Amino acid sequence: MKTATFVILTILGRGAAAQTPGDGPRFTSDGRLEKPENYREWIWLSSGLGMSYGPISEGMSNQDPPFDNVFVNPAAYRHFLRTGTWPDKTIFVLEVRSSVGKGSINQGGHFQGELVAVEAEVKDESRPGKWVFFGFNSGSSPAKPIPPAATCYSCHAQHGAVDNTFVQFYPTLLGVAKAKGTLKTPLGIAGTSRN
Ligand code: HEC
Repeated sequence: MKTATFVILTILGRGAAAQTPGDGPRFTSDGRLEKPENYREWIWLSSGLGMSYGPISEGMSNQDPPFDNVFVNPAAYRHFLRTGTWPDKTIFVLEVRSSVGKGSINQGGHFQGELVAVEAEVKDESRPGKWVFFGFNSGSSPAKPIPPAATCYSCHAQHGAVDNTFVQFYPTLLGVAKAKGTLKTPLGIAGTSRN
């Protein structure tokens, strides 16, 4: 009896592990993405300040431009360092935060304030476009995929420097992509000055 219970538990344990390999994305059975609660323990790629290319930034004043912080799961990051490419099941999080000018001892410049939005992007080689976008903006998790007609898909595909992603804005990865020869030519938005 004990052996049988052990075997069943072992099989169940393996099943659960197969659904959630490593530090990659976790989906519900109907394809919604669970918000990765520990994304702030992932690899930080860069922070943009007041970058204006999308709807979230439009409502913000120029005086207090929002920050965006970009994180990627560690396994995908290590793969990128080796190859200059993103593996299947790479997951990025873009966290948008308000910026604050006055507070505590700060006399000038800006520091990061409240959370404004959390968005995600997952590489899925089984889908035609290979990348899927998600928004957790109303705090809702799991999130349904954003429909393929959304501008997320077209802007990233056209202007991302490596695959669908904005490596031209991630200073430590830009050199890796150059060395591995994986930058698109011509480069996207930042192409002229940094190429
Ligand atoms: C007009 C162009 C544009 C549109 C539209 C756009 N993005 Fe982006 N996105 C960018 C840029 C530029 C960056 C780099 C940000 C930085 O450097 O801080 C970025 C970065 C990201 C990242 C980090 C990973 C990466 O690809 O580099 C995620 C995740 C992301 N965007 C999600 C979204 C989602 C979700 C939408 C649609 C709701 C969206 N984006 C729409 C331009 C765009």
